[in-house]
Amino acid sequence: MVTKTIDLRSDTVTKPTETMRLAMAKADVDDDVLIYDPTARQLETEMARITGKEAALFVPSGTMGNLISVLVHCEIRGSEVILGNNSHVHIYENGGISTIGGVHPRPVKNNDDGSIDVDVIEAAIRNPDFEICYPKTRLICLENSHANSGGRCLSVEYTDRVGALAKKHGLKLHIDGARIFNASAALNVPVDRLVQAADSVSVCLSKGLGAPVGSVIVGTKSFIARARILRKTLGGGMRQVGILCAAALVALQENVPKLVTDHKNAKTLAEGLNKIKGLSVDVASVETNIVYFEIAKGSHITALKLGKILDEHGILLMPDSSSRVRIVIHHQVSASDVQYTLACIKQAMTGGTDENGGN
Ligand SMILES: Cc1ncc(COP(=O)(O)O)c(C=O)c1O
Repeated sequence: MVTKTIDLRSDTVTKPTETMRLAMAKADVDDDVLIYDPTARQLETEMARITGKEAALFVPSGTMGNLISVLVHCEIRGSEVILGNNSHVHIYENGGISTIGGVHPRPVKNNDDGSIDVDVIEAAIRNPDFEICYPKTRLICLENSHANSGGRCLSVEYTDRVGALAKKHGLKLHIDGARIFNASAALNVPVDRLVQAADSVSVCLSKGLGAPVGSVIVGTKSFIARARILRKTLGGGMRQVGILCAAALVALQENVPKLVTDHKNAKTLAEGLNKIKGLSVDVASVETNIVYFEIAKGSHITALKLGKILDEHGILLMPDSSSRVRIVIHHQVSASDVQYTLACIKQAMTGGTDENGGN
């Protein structure tokens, strides 16, 4: 009988811990739209410190964090942003930068590791001499870690090079750092150093960090002052938001140190999957908490079918296509959950029984 759920669909599925719920219950709160909420202030001060920026702002989601950041940097209608063609902002955020912001996207090729070649970025910068026809490039966006490439990390050297390029051309650099703490843990580089070259960063609290809700954007004081007004415009101004910020403060304290364990568990899972006949994983590309695996062509099982079988064993995962599956590890997945998952997947792939395959 299934007694437990192992939820591998995303790192957004974590449940608030007891400590978070206690902190939420006791949070000191006030009206945050009027900038009176002390717990929101505490979280923003802490995030500004961790990221090495002047100021921070709590926002309801990563999508809103990216949208506000792009809109602040591209206030003039018809501005252009250079971003990866496989980036979250470009693919999964409803085209909000153009539909809401009037910002023109200039997608350029993301490499398999989530980077964009620096010369490709430079070649995409519009020549101001032809402004009669061209939109004006104002911003470059990077994503670290890069979700669609399997959570791979952009190095500090690479980020610095893109930052230097932005400066040379008078552009701003925004980092979608939904999982910047994962990148920091994997690269063993402090977050403030990793984003030093960026003018703004959007950091999700509700992914690897395990908070129930929210993101924070960071940048200069004047950037955040503009961002605060835009957040209100977009309906993201929330009143006693300290309730949510209290959980995020616990997440920063308790869960950041657990990210290295998540990455270790993801690696163990990837190595184990790669040993199962009919499955393949590019193990070397598993740098953080995301694992993509492929089901061999001609296999008796599709990703959807595998998902259904695992469901019966209490394991939830997300088919990405008929032959590709995405698994995301988080702090509520243990090393033994990983072993159990491997046993169940092996059993499903071989169609046989496995003595560990009971939950
Ligand atoms: C890389 C990246 N950026 C931004 C977001 C958006 O975050 P949210 O779901 O909080 O809007 C996500 C969500 O999965 C993401 O993976």
